[in-house]
Amino acid sequence: MKCIWLFALATFEVIVAQPQVQLGSRPFYLINEMSDSQLKTDLENCATNTEKYEVSDWSIGHRGACMQFPEHTLESYSAALSQGAGIVECDVTFTKDKELVCRHAQCDLHTTTDVVTRPDMNAKCTTPWAPGVAPKCCTSDFTLAEIQTLCAKMDASVADATTAEGYIGGTADWRTTLYSGECPKVPTHAESIALIDAADAYFTPELKTPEVEMPFDGLTQEMYAQMMVDEYVAAGVPAEKVWVQSFLWDDVVYWINNASDFGAQAVALEDTYEAYDFNMTQLDAHFKSIVDAGANYLAPPMWMLVDNVDGAFASSDYIKYAKDKDFKIITWTLERSGPLSSGGGWYFQSVNGEKDGDQSLILGDGQVFEFLHALNTEIGIVGMFSDWPATTTFYANCMNLGLRGDTDGGGDNEEGSGNNEESGSAANGVSHRSFVFLVFALVALLFT
Ligand SMILES: *[C@@H]1O[C@H](CO)[C@@H](O)[C@H](O)[C@H]1NC(C)=O
Ligand SMILES: *[C@@H]1O[C@H](CO)[C@@H](O)[C@H](O)[C@H]1NC(C)=O
Repeated sequence: MKCIWLFALATFEVIVAQPQVQLGSRPFYLINEMSDSQLKTDLENCATNTEKYEVSDWSIGHRGACMQFPEHTLESYSAALSQGAGIVECDVTFTKDKELVCRHAQCDLHTTTDVVTRPDMNAKCTTPWAPGVAPKCCTSDFTLAEIQTLCAKMDASVADATTAEGYIGGTADWRTTLYSGECPKVPTHAESIALIDAADAYFTPELKTPEVEMPFDGLTQEMYAQMMVDEYVAAGVPAEKVWVQSFLWDDVVYWINNASDFGAQAVALEDTYEAYDFNMTQLDAHFKSIVDAGANYLAPPMWMLVDNVDGAFASSDYIKYAKDKDFKIITWTLERSGPLSSGGGWYFQSVNGEKDGDQSLILGDGQVFEFLHALNTEIGIVGMFSDWPATTTFYANCMNLGLRGDTDGGGDNEEGSGNNEESGSAANGVSHRSFVFLVFALVALLFT
């Protein structure tokens, strides 16, 4: 009995203390789907030869690991961390009492939580759900205490449902509600920082565009941008671990001018999709504000980076311009489109024929790594958002991208300069502790 207890305790110590990267079966499924190529051979060899996968700062958890976990929950962030994402995203928005919480949009509570099924809460929505009514429930409709009573869920809805319970269904069949059953909470931004920091990972908070008029109850856009940064300062997180993002380029300029430590890594998100077809004169005007401010990072959607040139993935004119301006490129979002036998939809529009009627280069799941490889080798992206970071972490390990080869926890490997040395003291320290514990347990056993 004692023996079992001690052994169990020792094993428990090993399991809980060893933060091993776990990739699951999906990357290997994706390799199997590939047609024969040098890349497939290289990835197969990598899968065969890699004994231990490492965290990669090239691998960014988009809303956590939201392909299968309810987005922006601590559960989703934990899944991303266990899949080796070196950087995890909280989209930041504010509550009625001006607290910062993680939601993809200020007004998506009706599709990302069960709010419409709670009559008292539903009544407080900007537009409450009712049969035939499209609801709109905003974080700014509720206090933080109220929001913390909600259960987060997979982002989905059934527009023509006749009951509130029916409205919150509709999860795509290639996603799952498996991890939504225990009422995961809507986390505060500060809770996201604590969780991600405890895992020694880094941060990419996005300041979400307000959907209420600003200033909101005295909160100006600049105060809001500053508040987000201040929560890192309060948590003792250095600016080098934080890539603040916004689609509003005035926010990026604000951080560069007024929060300079954080401004150096501020990311300008791109949603002027017409810019894909801009000429030089138009591109000059388009990028002027962030070029003048000295922004270093640009993050367009994946399709804006590429073009189908003679049946192969090539750099778009848009991204050639951005690279000439020395922007480091981060892009979004891999693993968001479901099975690629559909062509991948919006995120692949420049290479699947949707935009220009060309022959599609996206035929199925075998193209996931081919496409990712093109983004790496043709464009030289420094970070990849993914709804399932395991896929990106696997590729990054095989290609030596952003790996935490150093052990000081302050690595700056976002340009793919990581090395493959057996990683360092943090992980080894833990296994060492576990080993000592095991020996101690065995010795204790001998003397009892
Ligand atoms: C931000 O910096 C600019 C330029 O230095 C300055 O004009 C502005 O007042 C600052 N804003 C805040 C809110 O401090
Ligand atoms: C760029 O496009 C704009 C808008 O279509 C047009 O007015 C302008 O002449 C073009 N400039 C060049 C250099 O082609």
